[in-house]
Amino acid sequence: GKVAVLFGGASAEREVSLMSGGAVLAALQRAGVDAHAFDPAERDLHILKDEGFERAFIVLHGRGGEDGTVQGALELMGIPYTGSGVMASALSMDKWRTKMVWLAAGLPTPRYAILDEHSDWDAVAAELGLPIFVKPVHEGSSMGATKVTEAGQLKAAWELAARYDTLVIAEEFVAGAELTAPFLGERVLPLVRIVAPDGNYDYQHKYFTDDTRYDCPSGLPAALERELQALVMKSAKVLGCRGWGRADLILTDDGRPYLLEMNTAPGMTGHSLVPMSARVAGLEFDALCLEILAEARL
Ligand code: DAL
Ligand code: MG
Repeated sequence: GKVAVLFGGASAEREVSLMSGGAVLAALQRAGVDAHAFDPAERDLHILKDEGFERAFIVLHGRGGEDGTVQGALELMGIPYTGSGVMASALSMDKWRTKMVWLAAGLPTPRYAILDEHSDWDAVAAELGLPIFVKPVHEGSSMGATKVTEAGQLKAAWELAARYDTLVIAEEFVAGAELTAPFLGERVLPLVRIVAPDGNYDYQHKYFTDDTRYDCPSGLPAALERELQALVMKSAKVLGCRGWGRADLILTDDGRPYLLEMNTAPGMTGHSLVPMSARVAGLEFDALCLEILAEARL
């Protein structure tokens, strides 16, 4: 039957989604799926039903697509869709409440504080230690995020993040290896280690520059890799995630992992990490897209 590849949308990550969605659409079509592009910024979702779409592949990043809203509309229309459901999508889009769930489940995540115009910047710096990451609570791709190295920069970092979101989080910087791992159905794919040349894996590095090094296989001892994969699966389960997704984490030099966030519709661009990891697991991009589609549910 007809498959709608939902991408674009109106979030700050629209450009990323256009890249991800274009790649997924082409892959599905190459594999013989009757897949069609559907940009929710340009067309009303409700016509999906009238146009006879039987499934939706969600490659929307950020709010209005990765956050449970589109998932809810598809539920009401009875159209099965890829990835997490309404609750897990909404929860994972929210970096603050994701951390609260992980902490309640005994899973490690860096310490944090919620910032607002009344925040005592020196107290935040003293509590979390420097540097500090300041981020909008509901954004991806490092949009509106700043790595703050002096307490005096916190207010400006909060102001920038507040342009993207009504909620802003400050997170303790944990030094260590930056890692990410996709899950696909019930398995976790190989970890990817990200080594940005200046230690700042930001928007430019994520999508445009070629100077970031990615190690996959990660080079970690096999037992440690398996332990971290189990942590990733657990981090997804407690949030209620399903289908596919990608958890980001830090591993300290003395071997302690910290979960950073969960992405329920992770990037699928030429620079993205899920396709890289899948390839190491023996899944080429087209096969990966077919597996994600096969997990579509209501
Ligand atoms: N938010 C971007 C798309 C990612 O996590 O890959
Ligand atoms: Mg993210």
